[in-house]
Amino acid sequence: MAPELRYDGQVAIITGAGAGLGRAYARFFASKGAKVVVNDLGGTFDAKGNQRSGAVADQVVDELTKAGAEAVADYNAVQNGDKIIETAIKAFGRVDILINNAGILRDITIRNMKDDDWNAIIDVHLHGAYKTTRAAWPYFRKQKYGRVIQTTSASGLFGNFGQGNYAAAKFGVVGLAETLAKEGAKYNIHSNIIAPAAASRLTQTVWPKEMMDLMGPEWVVPLVGYLVHPSCKENGSIFEAGAGHFSKIRWERSRGLLLKPDENLHPEHVLAGFKKITDFTLKDHPSESADLIGNLTAAGTQPPNKPPTTDLGIKGKVAL
Ligand code: NAI
Repeated sequence: MAPELRYDGQVAIITGAGAGLGRAYARFFASKGAKVVVNDLGGTFDAKGNQRSGAVADQVVDELTKAGAEAVADYNAVQNGDKIIETAIKAFGRVDILINNAGILRDITIRNMKDDDWNAIIDVHLHGAYKTTRAAWPYFRKQKYGRVIQTTSASGLFGNFGQGNYAAAKFGVVGLAETLAKEGAKYNIHSNIIAPAAASRLTQTVWPKEMMDLMGPEWVVPLVGYLVHPSCKENGSIFEAGAGHFSKIRWERSRGLLLKPDENLHPEHVLAGFKKITDFTLKDHPSESADLIGNLTAAGTQPPNKPPTTDLGIKGKVAL
């Protein structure tokens, strides 16, 4: 096996670390030399009602400190992520690792969704991830080092019936991490994305017991541990992890159809070329918005040097 990966002297902030995956991360980092901020507001799985308890974070801190690690509890909602970073700075003077993990669910189809169901989910998952990361960023930049994990979900990547709010928020953090990977690269700040699958209170109502038994959160931990280690160069990537299986997900773009620059654009042109547009025999795996130019060149002779026009039949031709 490779040499042991450790985090001595580093400070790891884990949001939602009072239970489930977050607690498993906290246990791991504490056992490998990191000082840990255990954030959790101890709410219900759907954030309905006002039940909150710092007890879940306290219990984890208690366990870690009894085992000889340094850990502090933080009870702030991730929507006040700047306060969580403040806790780390006050307790330990720095932050090296940020794991945005806190989460809730409000499963409901779009037909029945209320603004509150939408807002609550976007607030915790997307706004929360922004707030913690934004507040940690100046520290990362100054020390020219930082490792961030954003937590997406298969629902975010592929969609899932009854989870429009959750999927939108979870896809939002993918865009955030992909962008921060680019903004942070020259400061050695890496941002990666994981889509976990693990037994927890979020999955206990949908998975059968046999599956829950096989899919403990600790099976996700090794991937997160590697991605945030100083030796890991991966940046801006999406991974799946669960039950000991790890895989990487990437974008794939078909070579596509390139219409001639002097051709008028009509849906009939798209209909005629639709097979080509959706054919993945020739493909690439873009990771930059600028990659489009290369694909345009590959798809035809030259990219159009003037925008094509379409006759909308209203006020003449409109440049697209
Ligand atoms: P969990 O419910 O066991 O743990 C989540 C923790 O986050 C809870 O302790 C909760 O009190 C805390 N939390 C909720 N809202 C918070 C807030 N506003 N501020 C601070 N803490 C808050 O759930 P689990 O399964 O461990 O989920 C962790 C993350 O992984 C979530 O982001 C979830 O969406 C994601 N995920 C989990 C999957 C799974 O299979 N368990 C699948 C895909 C994604």
